Amino acid sequence: MAFRVRQLKVGGYDHNFSYLILADNGDAALVDPTGDCEVIRRAVAEAGEINPRYILLTHGHQDHCECLGEVRSYFSAQVASHPMHPLSGKITVGNGSRLPFGDGAIIAISTPGHTRDSICYLLSDNSALFTGDTLFIGCVGFCRSKEMYDSLMNRLLPLPDSVVIYSGHDYGTVPFRTLGEEKQENPYLNCPTLEAFRQQLRKLE
Ligand SMILES: [Fe+2]
Repeated sequence: MAFRVRQLKVGGYDHNFSYLILADNGDAALVDPTGDCEVIRRAVAEAGEINPRYILLTHGHQDHCECLGEVRSYFSAQVASHPMHPLSGKITVGNGSRLPFGDGAIIAISTPGHTRDSICYLLSDNSALFTGDTLFIGCVGFCRSKEMYDSLMNRLLPLPDSVVIYSGHDYGTVPFRTLGEEKQENPYLNCPTLEAFRQQLRKLE
C-alpha cells in the first residue's frame, strides 16, 4: 500500500495549500480545493488516469473551498465534511470515520478548536495528516483554547511521530514536516497545562 501526496501552492486568501492524494490503484482525493483553481486543474490533469473518490473539507471557512464548484466539474467525487460544515456534503464524517481509499482508508479525526467543524484527515498507513487550520507548522490556528488544547493533546499528539503534517496555510519555516519534528519545534504542542497553552496563545494576537 502506498499513497502519494501532492502539496499544491494555490495562493488564495493567505498562502493556502490544497492537496491531491493518490493511491496505487488510481484512487484520488482532493483536500480543501481553493485559491488558484488552475493549479489544481493542472495537478489533476498531470495525475493521468485516476478515479476521483473524495473532496475532503477540513472546516467551513470560505478560504478553504473557493474552487469546490469548479473542481467538481472535472473531479467528480463525493464531498466529505463535518455535519456542521456549511456546505455539508453527501458524506458527513465524525471522529474515527473511515473512507475506503486505495488499499486502505482515509480516517477522519474530529479536532474542534479553530472551528467546531474542524476535521483532520489521516491516511491509514500513518504517512500523512491533513490538518487544515488546526495545526500549522510551528503554530496553531486561532481558536477556542479549551477545545483546541483537548484536540491537540488527545487526538493529534498520540499519533506516530513519523506522520507528516500537511496544513492549510504555508505559515512555517518549511512547507511540511513530521509530527515528531513539530513536537520538538512547535511551542503550542509543548504546553503542559491548559493555562500554559492559553499564555502561549496570547502570542497569536
Ligand atoms: Fe480557518
